[in-house]
Amino acid sequence: MTNTRSRYHDVYEGWKRDPEGFWREAAKEIDWYKPADRIFDPQAGAYGRWFVGAECNTCYNAVDRHVATRGDQAAIIYDSPVANAQRRISYAQLQDEVATLAAVLQDMGVKKGDRVIVYMPMIPEAVFAMLACARLGAIHSVVFGGFAAKELATRIDDAKPKAILSASCGIEGAKIVAYKPLLDEAIELSASKPETCLVYQRPQLEGSLLAGRDRDWAQETTKAKVAGRKAECVSVAATDPLYVLYTSGTTGKPKGVVRDNGGYMVALKWTMSNFYGVKPGEVFWAASDVGWVVGHSYIVYAPLLHGCAAVLYEGKPVGTPDAGAFWRVIAEHKVVTLFTAPTAFRAIKKEDPQAELLKKYDVSSLRAFFLAGERADPDTVQWAEDILKLPVIDHWWQTETGWPVAGNPMGLGALPVKHGSPTVAMPGYVLDVLDEGGKSVGAGTMGTIVIKLPLPPGCLPTLWQADERFKESYLATYPGYYNTSDAGFIDSDGYVWVMGRTDDIINVAGHRLSTGGMEEVLASHPCVAECAVIGVKDELKGEVPCGFVVLKSGVQQTPDVIEKQLVGLVREKIGPVAAFKIAITVGRLPKTRSGKILRGTMKKIADGDSWTMPATIDDPGILEEIGEILKSRGLVN
Ligand code: COA
Ligand code: AMP
Repeated sequence: MTNTRSRYHDVYEGWKRDPEGFWREAAKEIDWYKPADRIFDPQAGAYGRWFVGAECNTCYNAVDRHVATRGDQAAIIYDSPVANAQRRISYAQLQDEVATLAAVLQDMGVKKGDRVIVYMPMIPEAVFAMLACARLGAIHSVVFGGFAAKELATRIDDAKPKAILSASCGIEGAKIVAYKPLLDEAIELSASKPETCLVYQRPQLEGSLLAGRDRDWAQETTKAKVAGRKAECVSVAATDPLYVLYTSGTTGKPKGVVRDNGGYMVALKWTMSNFYGVKPGEVFWAASDVGWVVGHSYIVYAPLLHGCAAVLYEGKPVGTPDAGAFWRVIAEHKVVTLFTAPTAFRAIKKEDPQAELLKKYDVSSLRAFFLAGERADPDTVQWAEDILKLPVIDHWWQTETGWPVAGNPMGLGALPVKHGSPTVAMPGYVLDVLDEGGKSVGAGTMGTIVIKLPLPPGCLPTLWQADERFKESYLATYPGYYNTSDAGFIDSDGYVWVMGRTDDIINVAGHRLSTGGMEEVLASHPCVAECAVIGVKDELKGEVPCGFVVLKSGVQQTPDVIEKQLVGLVREKIGPVAAFKIAITVGRLPKTRSGKILRGTMKKIADGDSWTMPATIDDPGILEEIGEILKSRGLVN
């Protein structure tokens, strides 16, 4: 299937013929202090490194270089229905705020290479924090606000930050979430205590500051402004880390995905015009959170590198105040491109199935709608197309890649859409589908989707201080390939179909979570003998976790009491974002004769899918028991 109007095939083939030439050309869009000695060095790092020898600064490229040409143009448009606030920050103002905050960080002893944790809600100061770190060459690590203290502590211990930047509270719909007590508890739990915390006090709920360690954000930045103190951009190697973003691994210990400066800038800048089809000066909105990779790449860095105005939306698709929230933001700020997770659309569809609220707003500025973060189910895509009468583009990527692996490139000319497929591989990526033995399967056959090495610029070079874990997790299973751990197939038109994970990662409302991590929490309960957590289908969130536990013999409490405690425990240890609401006590868990829990079959039963009795099962009766329990709880018909 070809679309003669799309330049995609030419561009992809051009990249394949000369990958280094392609990225050399793309790199001209970035201002370098020193150009690269080599575009790609195959000998460096785990699979090679991009733009070796180059020097640059990401904050300079995202902010400073635009000030002369678009200083008065909006860089950030903050829109918060929950705080009842809006703020337009121009490029000149952004430079001022970021340079000032960077000076405050310098006073706190932060310098190039130091880690700084950012634990903040969706307020402009979170963006200033990321950019101020980038300005100094310090490595930021943003932790999503929906994680509990223990998760934050794990990240503090791994990143060993010099400082933490935080805010007193987040606002979740009608709820105020106190961040400061969570921060204090996390620092208490961690072994690598930061020297300083800079805390932004929000009027909705102020936090108490600890003498000697905590500083007040507003006071410190005001002092620096009065003194006229500003920090300059520090030159860093293109291969130096810009940030570490922790993401769920298969155990409770998250993986610190490292992102470099140079390759990331080049790749992101390329996507803005060629993939998203957006021009400098236009308004780009990714309705995500700065705590996720989508937030890093498409709320902050890519739109700013491209000279766009980025919308920073502190609210939900529904309930703040209604299912017309997205349409209001598009209309008020003249958004040209909206990017969100399918779950947000499902939430809007549930509340307003006829899209009545859309009629209240003029959304004619919108040209396209992008979905990612989880599989875009064909029903949701169809509904979005019907109500918006615009291209609805699914694209597939991971925290690890930082930018789309596959998608339908609007900027190059859209290809025909196939509902349920994120279309085709982007330049930089050669995809294949392998069977368990590592053999390439034919078109239309399911297997593990892999990316041929080397990964393109912008993808992770390694995991934070864990090169071996990186190699083992991603490169060891299929030599010469990066293992995406996504299952799917490529059809005869070259369209990729991403159907689900091959590991125990689940996607809950577009949030990536580890069932292994949840099992570790359940197993820590003194009454639990063994457990299994699976992701079960959910109409709104795509998937939700469901925990099965076998209690130790002689336990006195009733199962319902323990189940409530387990729900509370996951919330306390991982956080509300885990959305762990179902714990079920069972007499025994189904296993193979070698003792492996049959999670896949349990999932099929819970999802109401057809299933066959595994040949290796130890006791077939147990699966019947599981089915009966799920029925008695009303979880399956
Ligand atoms: N800080 C603190 N708590 C948070 C939080 C944050 N930043 N984000 C979410 N939470 C809490 C929620 O309040 C909720 O708590 P509750 O159990 O007390 O109700 C819990 O974590 C689960 O959150 P979520 O799964 O987001 O459910 P929700 O019912 O609040 O909202 C959606 C459902 C679909 C509206 C929402 O998930 C959404 O908009 N998703 C878009 C997905 C997205 O942005 N993905 C990022 C990748 S593109
Ligand atoms: P995250 O690292 O949070 O971005 O999650 C990455 C995972 O989300 C991928 O490995 C996929 O399993 C899933 N995912 C993201 N985008 C898509 C998509 N467009 N289609 C199917 N799955 C997706």
